[in-house]
Amino acid sequence: MIEAILDAKLPRLLGPLPGPKAREVIALDARHLSPSFTRGYPLVARRGRGAMVEDVDANVFLDFAAGIAVAATGHCHPRVVEAIQRQAAELIHISGTDFYYPQMIDLAEKLEKITPGREPKRVFYGNSGTEAIEAAIKLARYATGREKLIAFHGCFHGRTMGSLSLTASKAVQRKGFGSLLSGVFHIPYPNRYRCPLGAGAHDCGDDCIEHLEKVVFKKLVDPSDVAAIFIEPVQGEGGYLPAPSKFLRDLADLCARHGILLVADEVQCGMGRTGKWWASEHSGIEPDVICVAKGIASGMPLGAMIARASLMTWKPGAHASTFGGNPVCLAAALATIDLLEGGYMENARRMGNHLLERMKGWPERFRSVGDVRGLGLMLGIEFVVDRASREPAREFRDRVVERAFHKGLLVLGAGESTLRLCPPLLIDEEQADFAASAIEESISEVERAA
Ligand SMILES: Cc1ncc(COP(=O)(O)O)c(C=O)c1O
Repeated sequence: MIEAILDAKLPRLLGPLPGPKAREVIALDARHLSPSFTRGYPLVARRGRGAMVEDVDANVFLDFAAGIAVAATGHCHPRVVEAIQRQAAELIHISGTDFYYPQMIDLAEKLEKITPGREPKRVFYGNSGTEAIEAAIKLARYATGREKLIAFHGCFHGRTMGSLSLTASKAVQRKGFGSLLSGVFHIPYPNRYRCPLGAGAHDCGDDCIEHLEKVVFKKLVDPSDVAAIFIEPVQGEGGYLPAPSKFLRDLADLCARHGILLVADEVQCGMGRTGKWWASEHSGIEPDVICVAKGIASGMPLGAMIARASLMTWKPGAHASTFGGNPVCLAAALATIDLLEGGYMENARRMGNHLLERMKGWPERFRSVGDVRGLGLMLGIEFVVDRASREPAREFRDRVVERAFHKGLLVLGAGESTLRLCPPLLIDEEQADFAASAIEESISEVERAA
């Protein structure tokens, strides 16, 4: 059976989903696991290779979700597996908090090389996106001596109490958890399709900057009290929304003028997914701090906060993590970066353009598709009740996601009514075309049933 999945490039379903073994696991999961997870459909994974995932009943799926944009080099890439195995046989843990090991430096040097800006950088390692953000919050306050933070409506920066204070994605993520960090302000994100300030696609970014300067800085907080502005250059959980380049440049200028640090949360959009190492590179900005996780180690838990060396002046003991930068995760990250450099990042750019070209006519062709957008292999399809009102069609999106699953394609939602495509960066044209056709068919079926 392993051969079947190794060879497969397209899905193969053996029967109705979920199969018998999957149903058993789901029943046990319901009894034993935290009910806080949001499973959209019943995939019970057994193993993965490349862009393919086999479930416990031997059904094979094409994975355009990649474990939430994590499996950048595909599932179990032989070179990543080999790096993990080799490192695990040498040293699994010693804690970089108290001792030294060379892999920490190897990856830091690599990250410094691929991060924009001439100033030397320093790196802090954690185990996740939220830890990279927590580290950035603490560093921003420490380095500036200021307390206030600004983030954007719709943004997702994590679920621990500091990062959750920045997150403004869904109220359920905050409900019942009491007070969060004080001194956090949220401002509109420049969504070109539905500008929160009512502007058109071209002016939305300008209006958001004006709101920050004329409303927030005049009425709520003096810019000299603000330590940092956190932004996802492509808003991920908020709906796969690339911020306009001019907006990002204006924001970077504004930050520089006021001595505010610009923190780019590249946890979902970084590490080559958009066809460049960093999504912020598409606009030419040089953030003061970059937070990265998800795709950095092809599925091993690793997060990093990369900052200008002149900022990272905190004293020994100020911040640390027992597991952060574990040698096995670092080995996976170094292999991942090699593979991205070796062609997968360029493939993300090419396959992203191919898919966008294929999907750009959808808003004319399907009455339920309002917008198609994205950079590289970070693409969003936004569903609406009708194109005139642009009212989000959440249930419609959920039904398309479900239909795609029954055709053997794994995808996820994002935002209120967007379907996201974030496959491994190694997909080929045949797989991209299969995914596009499966989504087209799913949309047609759901439209017919409506
Ligand atoms: C942009 C962004 N930042 C931070 C996080 C939090 O990452 P983690 O779930 O690894 O804590 C996420 C997770 O989806 C994310 O998309």
